[in-house]
Amino acid sequence: MSGSESPPISRVSFTLNGEPVELDIEPTRTVLELLRTHFEVPSMRRGCCAGVCGACIILIEDRALPACIVPAYRANGRRITTIEGFRHTREYRDIRRAFHEVGVQACSYCEPARMLIVQSILSAGLTPRSEEVQQAVDAVKCACFAGPAMAEAVWEAAGIRNRRLHARKR
Ligand code: FES
Ligand code: FES
Repeated sequence: MSGSESPPISRVSFTLNGEPVELDIEPTRTVLELLRTHFEVPSMRRGCCAGVCGACIILIEDRALPACIVPAYRANGRRITTIEGFRHTREYRDIRRAFHEVGVQACSYCEPARMLIVQSILSAGLTPRSEEVQQAVDAVKCACFAGPAMAEAVWEAAGIRNRRLHARKR
């Protein structure tokens, strides 16, 4: 491509926090850039931009992924959830309560990612496997509290959700 040529553009449509959206993007963009630039999503902060720090984790469908390493075209046809949408759900309240009960007090920079990781694990089942729990411990890199608190939070959130769903069936 010569220097004066515009980069190719792709049209993507997806659901962002429950709202259908559609826009044209350059294929070299990431989902993080897309959410920051076009939608000004407040929780989408720029951290390492290399998929390491975990600060930009979002849900794509039900899977927790660092938005900074996901190409924007992969949003096409998907359901994308950030903490701004997730915080209006009962599932959020389960996890919020679990964090409170086991004493996870993450800062506003880390908490969205930590909560979305727990949600991703619980959406796959309410008896998390030890490697999934370890994922919740490791995914956000900060030393503010020890791994056991995050592991405990996953189990606690699973228990809270289990009891809530069970109570509803009675
Ligand atoms: S900014 Fe995405 S993982 Fe660090
Ligand atoms: S809880 Fe955010 S930097 Fe540790």
